[in-house]
Amino acid sequence: MATKEFPLVPEDVPQVKTKYRTICTKIPVPESIELLKRLRELEPRSMGGQPPVIWHHGEGFTISDAYGNTWIDFSSGVLVTSSGHGREEIVKAITDMAKQRLYHAYCFPTEIRLRWVEKLTSILPAPLKRVFLLTTGSEATECCIKLARTWGMKVGGKEKNIIVSFDNAFHGRTMGAQLAGGIPALKNWLGDTNGKFVQVPFPDGFRQKDTSFEVFEKTLKEKGVNPDNVCGVISETFQGCNATIMPPEYAQALRKWCDEHKAVLIFDEIQAGFGRTGKWFGFQHLDVVPDLVACGKGIAGGMPVSAVLGTEELMNLYGPGEMTSTHSANPVCSAAGLANLEVLEKENLFDNVNRLAPVLSEGCRRIAEASGGKIGHWDSIGLVGALQFTKNGTTEPDPEPAWELVRRAVQRGVMLFAPVGVGGCAVKINPPLVINEEGLREGLEVLEQIVAEGV
Ligand SMILES: Cc1ncc(COP(=O)(O)O)c(C=O)c1O
Repeated sequence: MATKEFPLVPEDVPQVKTKYRTICTKIPVPESIELLKRLRELEPRSMGGQPPVIWHHGEGFTISDAYGNTWIDFSSGVLVTSSGHGREEIVKAITDMAKQRLYHAYCFPTEIRLRWVEKLTSILPAPLKRVFLLTTGSEATECCIKLARTWGMKVGGKEKNIIVSFDNAFHGRTMGAQLAGGIPALKNWLGDTNGKFVQVPFPDGFRQKDTSFEVFEKTLKEKGVNPDNVCGVISETFQGCNATIMPPEYAQALRKWCDEHKAVLIFDEIQAGFGRTGKWFGFQHLDVVPDLVACGKGIAGGMPVSAVLGTEELMNLYGPGEMTSTHSANPVCSAAGLANLEVLEKENLFDNVNRLAPVLSEGCRRIAEASGGKIGHWDSIGLVGALQFTKNGTTEPDPEPAWELVRRAVQRGVMLFAPVGVGGCAVKINPPLVINEEGLREGLEVLEQIVAEGV
C-alpha cells in the first residue's frame, strides 16, 4: 500500500501537450492545495497516499481536472472503469433510472434487477448458476467465506471450518463484520469456534519459486491442518499486488483437491473479472470452474456494486431473508451494470484487450530493462501489468523508487495510483479496456523515460 503521502507543494513541471495528455499548470495545482489540505484534515490518515490530483471528469481512457490538465489513465480508478470513463451508455442508463425516480428498492423486486441478473447468469459457465448482488468487493469475499463455512458445518460438522488462503492475498478491508457484530443469532451457528484462516504460498514464481501443488499440501501438513477440516480455499486468479496468474496445472490440482476434501473453491475475481485479462473471468485461463466467485470493481463501470456468483447448492444454503444487504441491486447501479456489460460485448473490448496485451507486456519488459535491475519482477496479463521494485536483485521490496515513479508519471500526464502490494513496491498499470494502441504506447514510453532517467 501507499507508504507515504505525496507533498502538497506545487512544483514547476515541464508543460505537456499531446493528443491525449495536457499538463499546463504546476503539479499539484496551486488552486487545489486548500481543498487537498482540508481532506487531509477531515479524513483518516489512511485516506492519504493518493496522488494530489482532484479528478473532475473522464472521457474514455483519459481523466481531467478542472484546471485544464488531462492524463492518460493507467489506473481505471482502481481497475474499476473498465469500459471507459464517461461512457454515454452508462450515463444514459444512470440518468434514465434516476428520471424514472427509482433510486432504491431494498426488500422489493425490480425489473432492472431481473434484467441485470439475467445478463450476468447468461455469461456463467456451468455449474455456476446464481448471482447475489452486493455493494463492495469485501462484502462479496466475506459472503463467499460465510457460505464456505456454512457448507463446512453442513457436510463436516463444526470442525470443518478452516479457510485456506494465500500469502500476500488481498480480499478486502472489512474485518469479518458478522463476527464483530453483537447479535448472537447471527453468530451462534459458528459453535464454540470462530474458525481459522491458514495461509499457503501463492505460486507466483518470484517470491515462491516452486510453483508445484505439492507446496500447498506440504504447507498444510507443516501447519498441522487436517485437509478434511478445510471448508474452503480462496484465491485471486492473479494477486492484486502483482499480475501473475495462478499456473493452470496448479489451479487444476487445487480444484481436484477441493473436490476430494469437500472444500469450496472460491476465486476472488474482483480485479480480474469482466474482461481485464481478456476473458470474462481470470479462471477461464486456468481450465477450472470454482464453486463461488467474488466480483466487484469492473462489474458496473464505476458504480458501487459487487456480486457473488455460485452453484445452486451453495447459493441456496440460506433461507428467505437470511442473506441480504441494504444496497443490494440498487436500481441505478443495476442499470449501470447492465449497460456496462452491453458495452463490453458490443465493442468487443475483450478483443481489444487481447490485441493490446502484447504491447503492455513488451512495455513492461522495456521499463524493467530501463530500470537497471531496480524492477526485480514484472508481469502482465491482458490489460493489467505490475512492476515490482526490489532491493539489489532480491525479493525484498523497495517502495521508494516505486513511489517516485508514480509521482513523476502523474506530473507528466500519466495517471497511476500509489504503489501497492508487498511493502508498497508494486506499480500497477491497468488502463480502461477501451484504450487504443497509440495511447497505451505513449503512456508506457513516459514510464520508460522516467525509469531510464533514474528513480
Ligand atoms: C482482489 C481484491 N479483492 C477484494 C477487494 C476489496 O474490494 P472493495 O475495496 O470493493 O471492498 C479488492 C480491492 O482492491 C481486491 O483487489
